[in-house]
Amino acid sequence: MRHLMSPMDFDTNELDRLFDLATDIENNPAKYAHKCDGRILATCFYEPSTRTRLSFESAMLRLGGKVIGFSDANSSSAAKGESVSDTIRIISAYADICAMRHLKEGAPMVASQKSLIPVINAGDGGHQHPTQTLTDLLTIRNMKGHLDNFTIGLCGDLKFGRTVHSLIKALSRYENIRFIFISPEELRVPDYIIELLNEKKLPYKEVIRLEDEIANLDILYMTRVQKERFFNEEDYVRLKDFYVLNTDKLSLAKKDMLILHPLPRVNEIDVEVDDDPRAAYFKQARYGVYVRMALILTLLELC
Ligand code: CP
Repeated sequence: MRHLMSPMDFDTNELDRLFDLATDIENNPAKYAHKCDGRILATCFYEPSTRTRLSFESAMLRLGGKVIGFSDANSSSAAKGESVSDTIRIISAYADICAMRHLKEGAPMVASQKSLIPVINAGDGGHQHPTQTLTDLLTIRNMKGHLDNFTIGLCGDLKFGRTVHSLIKALSRYENIRFIFISPEELRVPDYIIELLNEKKLPYKEVIRLEDEIANLDILYMTRVQKERFFNEEDYVRLKDFYVLNTDKLSLAKKDMLILHPLPRVNEIDVEVDDDPRAAYFKQARYGVYVRMALILTLLELC
């Protein structure tokens, strides 16, 4: 039995197979409409979500399966003090696969150690968000045609943004990727990520101003400042609008630069950018359904 805790749990060949499957699902949905007949997905979300939970649920329903779960820790027995280890033992009797989001880093990993069914980390605190990374990689592969040889700028909250941590780790395995980290001093990429890049001798640069680097980017990955991870409101208010991508700044960028964002967006991308052909974040969210369908089939060994 296999779980997904980190994007590194799949090697690049396995990722290629997963993305090929996701693409086939997108092109031939009828072929997959009953692959999960009789199977149940549990979505155990201890933290808020729109995309991840609903795309998982949509994925399972489109595969012919059914869905159970909770979207709020307070509507589960976590509110009475039940541990994730006990909860997953129970869920193992009710479902065939579980997607879990938790505010505590490592909670899905703890659950996986007691689980009798595959567990998918759907985001754990400020740590990892592997299925967002699968979505991001599929989007890049489909829209750029390759997963190597590009310069990517990651902009915003690089400290608490779990999507950024997972994406950097995943991209560190592809050839000739140059990372530009664009953040205020207080929200720089954690040291453990920098150490990984140094160990692999991968090129990266840390800068504060988006305008200084936007012209050099093939991909701009914008992120929201993660309000829920701040210790005080004052710091959040000071940093929340540090970056706002608007059409003026975009005029400095390459004509084919891809703009990605895991969403939700707050103010960091002006809505006027949405109509620009380089804005791919809504398409990116749609790819999330296909890649999660492919992931469910892979972990349930149905493909
Ligand atoms: N991208 C993402 O994780 O969005 P949600 O928090 O809405 O699931």
